[in-house]
Amino acid sequence: MANGLDDVVAADTVLSDVDGVGGHLTIRGHSLKELAGHWRYGQVVRLLFDGFFDALPGDSELEKAIGRARVEVFERLQPTLGQLAPLDIYSAMRAGISLLPDGDELADALRLVAAPAVLTPALLRLGRGEAPLAPDSRAGHAADMLRMLGGTASPALAKALDTYLVTVCDHGLNASTFATRVVASTQAGLTSAVLAGLGALKGPLHGGAPGPVIEMLDAIETSGDAAAWLRGEIARGERIMGFGHRIYRVRDPRADVLKAVVRQLGSGKETSSRKMGDRLAFAETVEQAALEVLRVAKPQRSIQTNVEFYTALLLEAAGFPKEAFSNVFAAGRVAGWIAHAREQQATGRLIRPQSRYVGPVPELVA
Ligand code: COA
Repeated sequence: MANGLDDVVAADTVLSDVDGVGGHLTIRGHSLKELAGHWRYGQVVRLLFDGFFDALPGDSELEKAIGRARVEVFERLQPTLGQLAPLDIYSAMRAGISLLPDGDELADALRLVAAPAVLTPALLRLGRGEAPLAPDSRAGHAADMLRMLGGTASPALAKALDTYLVTVCDHGLNASTFATRVVASTQAGLTSAVLAGLGALKGPLHGGAPGPVIEMLDAIETSGDAAAWLRGEIARGERIMGFGHRIYRVRDPRADVLKAVVRQLGSGKETSSRKMGDRLAFAETVEQAALEVLRVAKPQRSIQTNVEFYTALLLEAAGFPKEAFSNVFAAGRVAGWIAHAREQQATGRLIRPQSRYVGPVPELVA
């Protein structure tokens, strides 16, 4: 067994498939390219939940129910927001979610879908001394998230964020999804399972990479020499954030989807679009330099651009500070976690692997 379990198949799933050699992501029979930019996040939530909850309503009814869940979460958690706000934004969101009921019904699931999208803008506003804005149950999920953050949401940014949420909604048995399934296998409730996923997503080797991508871009801009800066990082044994993947040996297909979204945002004539276009052009230069430096430094391994590189640019353009990028990732991935938890509860047994003891043995007493 490989250290890191990459040679172990630990679950059968109908939810998603990651083809790391061909560079394809399939979500319940649909390719990522079919979904991203074409399906709304609420529709993809329905796609993932289908068969795992009784009496699941149709797309538009489910989207309305997610809207009502946003309002309910806001009303339930508003009294505690002041206590949560001093924590770092990810821990504050996780603490808020831990206060939700731990059931297995659709209402529990929808509150969990709503929670990161509601808590993140509310906590960000409190952090900058502004009052949180209540959700609008009739708005689209991504549009409402942006409105709760900044007071308005341009249709272009709302569409970009919606595409992002769809793009990251599920991705095979990644670390956070596995953690979610382990907890769900004990028949604990959905909130407990989602909290396990949230814990795993926090680390920089998984969902915590896009914030450091922005720090890297800023440091390279200051240094003025991308290749030299990147070589210096490798020489110090550091990893280049936004590159490499356990499964993909080719370019992560989500990187291209998100890059196209950022390009679209940067193609307008207004100053903000031009700035975004310049930022994208700079990021593309850094990407090429990083791929070349990694090719030379790690010739034995194909290290390609992963989802986090263009996630960083997209979420920056949408107005989220880098500290909150993992929160937004969680706002998309939470639907996948819930579907996996339900699938595990329905089809799996308690996950309880064995370890091999390599410590000292007690002396035999005659
Ligand atoms: N920068 C530099 N070296 C990297 C690298 C990166 N981004 N990704 C992998 N490597 C190197 C490792 O240093 C190691 O080299 P070595 O054999 O000389 O020690 C080799 O590739 C294998 O690394 P390993 O950690 O076993 O591969 P993995 O399959 O577990 O890596 C990640 C997957 C995601 C953990 C890894 O690519 C990484 O740390 N990337 C940066 C963080 C990131 O972008 N995370 C988001 C993932 S979506």
